[in-house]
Amino acid sequence: MSSRTNEELICKLRDTHALTEEEYGALIETRTAADAELLAAYAVQARKKIYGNDVYVRGLIECTNICKNNCYYCGIRRDNPHADRYRLTGEEILTACKKGYELGFRTFVLQGGEDAYFSDAVLCDIVASIKENHPDCAVTLSLGERERESYLALYRAGADRYLLRHETADRAHYEKLHPKEMSFDRRMRCLNDLREIGYQVGCGFMVGSPDQTPGTLAKDLKFVETFRPDMCGIGPFIPHHETPFCDRRAGTVKLTCFLLSILRLIHPPILLPATTALGTIDPRGRERGILAGANVVMPNLSPLAVRKKYDLYDNKICTGEESAECRTCLETRMQSIGYRIVTCRGDIIKT
Ligand code: 5AD
Ligand code: FES
Repeated sequence: MSSRTNEELICKLRDTHALTEEEYGALIETRTAADAELLAAYAVQARKKIYGNDVYVRGLIECTNICKNNCYYCGIRRDNPHADRYRLTGEEILTACKKGYELGFRTFVLQGGEDAYFSDAVLCDIVASIKENHPDCAVTLSLGERERESYLALYRAGADRYLLRHETADRAHYEKLHPKEMSFDRRMRCLNDLREIGYQVGCGFMVGSPDQTPGTLAKDLKFVETFRPDMCGIGPFIPHHETPFCDRRAGTVKLTCFLLSILRLIHPPILLPATTALGTIDPRGRERGILAGANVVMPNLSPLAVRKKYDLYDNKICTGEESAECRTCLETRMQSIGYRIVTCRGDIIKT
């Protein structure tokens, strides 16, 4: 056990960008409101040095809610017979990008379940078309686990970034969140493959997922410290009524913000979204995320007709708004806290 006070730990983190696993765990376990405030102040300072008051935007396009996996937490898991399944056509995806481009988006994130329809041939074609129509834009994929060759083909077709949340860096915890056929090692292998191929890579985890402890979170933080991803997506776990975790407690805004601040100090240039899940559990969740050290928001660009169907957790926000409305809404929210949304690809600024 560390004998340092939390204030000392926070200063150590600010100055060295690292703590021991035990120290991360102790800081989380014994944190006070004053610790959270101090941590957020240092996190914002670190972010401002690199990104000023700029907040990057990504247009999120939810391509498919068909998924071969059965994660216990997820509303679009295979065994939810009530999920109203859909997939977008290539043309619908390109139309969403065109609309997004006009609204000032220069990054498109194609996110979806593990849907076999999106073969390499189909996806490479879509990625290449987006890059052809919008050569000044970045394409981020978030489509789960694939073969290394597939990641390579997509990279060659023009994909720039890949988001694949590791969900938890603790093997036993991973096995509590996922059925037997899913593998912690495979998830980690995918992340390493993506990195080796040349993608800007994002990992991430839910905050307050069932059976998460300060100890498992400490492993997540140590993983981020050593893997040094370009992006890390974290948001509160929110139960979905038609999953095995329907009656588990949701994560909190406070802990999510505390972890955002820690992540910012571990790796100051990291791209950290204030997620939709954070906005779902608190009407000012995304603003609070930015004020804790996040620097990215991801308004929804999916066609209105499918919004409600991409139902990962209950009460998800932004399902009734047009793309333009989401964009304006976030613009206003960011301005209200002294930040501005910028029109650019929003690549990581490595210091
Ligand atoms: N609550 C919060 N986040 C969830 N995700 C999936 N289900 C939930 C839930 N019930 C997150 C997972 C996944 C990402 C696409 O959404 O972390 O990687
Ligand atoms: Fe598909 Fe969880 S069931 S991502």
